[in-house]
Amino acid sequence: RAIFRPFPSAAPVSPSSGRTKISVIGAGNVGMAIAQTILTQDLADALALVDANAEKLRGEMLDLQHAAAFLPRTHIAASTDYSVTAGSDLCIITAGARQIAGESRLDLVQRNLALFREIVPPLARYSPESIILVVSNPVDVLTYIAWKLSGFPPNRVIGSGTNLDSSRFRSLLAEHLEVNAQDVQAYMVGEHGDSSVALWSSISVGGVPLLGSLEKHQIAYEQEVLERIRRAVVESAYEVIRLKGYTSWAIGYSVASLARSLLRDQRRIHPVSLLAAGGALLPGVPPDRYVFISLPALLGRAGVLGVASVHLTDEEVRRLHASADTLWEIQQQLGL
Ligand code: NAI
Ligand code: 2OP
Repeated sequence: RAIFRPFPSAAPVSPSSGRTKISVIGAGNVGMAIAQTILTQDLADALALVDANAEKLRGEMLDLQHAAAFLPRTHIAASTDYSVTAGSDLCIITAGARQIAGESRLDLVQRNLALFREIVPPLARYSPESIILVVSNPVDVLTYIAWKLSGFPPNRVIGSGTNLDSSRFRSLLAEHLEVNAQDVQAYMVGEHGDSSVALWSSISVGGVPLLGSLEKHQIAYEQEVLERIRRAVVESAYEVIRLKGYTSWAIGYSVASLARSLLRDQRRIHPVSLLAAGGALLPGVPPDRYVFISLPALLGRAGVLGVASVHLTDEEVRRLHASADTLWEIQQQLGL
């Protein structure tokens, strides 16, 4: 069977102007961690920052500009006016309310819907050919909202989704197995957060499938360890928020890796939030139920190019459908 299923309306790669511009909306903890990583990794020729708080925004811009002597040359601009984002290749949205200890990501939806009504239309107007990458929470529902408000084709509206959960999963597996996380392949899919689904059969280390190897050596107890790791992934954001108030560094690297794959046409596979239901990608979901949820996707300059034909067990399909149902019910209350 084919490795990838093509993604609907993946437009051909647009000719590059040779100059890459990224806009980051929201100059808070997450936006600035992303901006900093983009600068140090030399991913853009121009970086535009937008925030509603003009003073904080100017302070952040100046602070970054003062690091110019240590960084690749990048033009950095900031404004509360969206004209600063004009002609962006990639618009990353991080603005909005974040959870306080005890709140779930889904609790944020109404507050952040109101902000997205202010943010998405001008972004789409000033950069009609851009890719929108949503990071604000709840990321899956807000990616759906960004898709509706922008009018962009689905291949150009992406949520950072479970790219972060998967990197947490890989780092905990790597710690347990005492190997480098970069050699651990493992995916979490579904909703970013509480109902994310670990794809056990996807785990491999240096090309060796983990479950097959455990079964061969009849190491059953490891299954419990793996389940403990999965629970730790789901709990990990809550733990960091309880300890330091917010999460920022891991999402900064996670989004920079997405920016690289998209803008440099790397054709790497990342689990990101994409229009998975309402098409043939999540069979069993009614065709009129449009839901963004993470699946391992092939990313390149045109956005989502395809979706990996991963093998899902019946239980994984059941969990994905449960996530999709939850997100759909929330979307029904949005009045969009
Ligand atoms: P923060 O409170 O530090 O920053 C939010 C920024 O948004 C502030 O600077 C604020 O002035 C700005 N803002 C508010 N309204 C705005 C508007 N209308 N236009 C432009 N800017 C506006 O919050 P933080 O920690 O940066 O988190 C941002 C979001 O990212 C939250 O929703 C959080 O839950 C989410 N997040 C998502 C992750 C993911 O994996 N998808 C990971 C970590 C955080
Ligand atoms: C995270 O997983 C809170 O969604 C944010 O770090």
